[in-house]
Amino acid sequence: MEVIIKATQEEACRLGARIVAEVVRTRPHPVLGLATGSSPLPLYRELVRLHREEGLSFAHATTFNLDEYVGLDPAHPGSFRTCMEENLFRHIDLPRDRAHLPDGLAKDIPAHCAEYERMIAAAGGIDLQLLGIGSDGHLAFNEPSSSFRSRTRIKTLWTETRRANAGPFGSPEQVPHHCLTMGLGTIMEARRCLLLGFGRGKAQAIRDMVEGPVTASCPASLLQFHEHTIVLVDEEAGSLLQHRDYYREVYAGKPDWQRWE
Ligand code: GLP
Repeated sequence: MEVIIKATQEEACRLGARIVAEVVRTRPHPVLGLATGSSPLPLYRELVRLHREEGLSFAHATTFNLDEYVGLDPAHPGSFRTCMEENLFRHIDLPRDRAHLPDGLAKDIPAHCAEYERMIAAAGGIDLQLLGIGSDGHLAFNEPSSSFRSRTRIKTLWTETRRANAGPFGSPEQVPHHCLTMGLGTIMEARRCLLLGFGRGKAQAIRDMVEGPVTASCPASLLQFHEHTIVLVDEEAGSLLQHRDYYREVYAGKPDWQRWE
């Protein structure tokens, strides 16, 4: 894992956007795994700016989002489709028929989940997967105890997760109880992962993920086995990392050809 500690979320997301932009510019048919939640929003704003001001084009890109609620109309203000439309899709030139999210209204959920996996494989696999992290260490909606080999499937959301995601729903009771989410096995197949974590509320989860034992009790800790994961945090989220001085030293000493800034 490469841990990069930036002063603020804004600064970290500017760097994160450069990492995404490099993939978009260098791959003939880039495949991006996208995440919702509040963590990536400044990164999406920066991608929109790069599109408008620096000609970054998503015309040849394909995207797959991590997750979606079950039973929610895609046009609902709380759906992840709406979140992506408002924060990214409608501001860039990504062809809409290549912007995929799991379909929370699918009639045959197991068949739809299997099809989602097939679509990812048919696109050539995910080049770069964006990830946030839950305060309990969840990745996408893979709550603690999720199987390390899990694939896209239906999951039940923990009350705490429903509370954390209540914003656009008005109250936690309105948040659906179920979701469709890529599995940990799906995420682990992405060629690169870029995980974002910000604020004091994520500090323990970041510590557990990076420096704790690999355990299904902290699903994100599985990324210790991933070949190429970058963890981008702000000072607060990185505050409990025991080896933070080492991570800073590594980043400061990075050769120029490995830098994005
Ligand atoms: C939700 C999403 C996750 C996200 C997490 C953290 O549970 N399904 O993908 O990482 O929230 O969200 P936030 O970035 O708002 O803290």
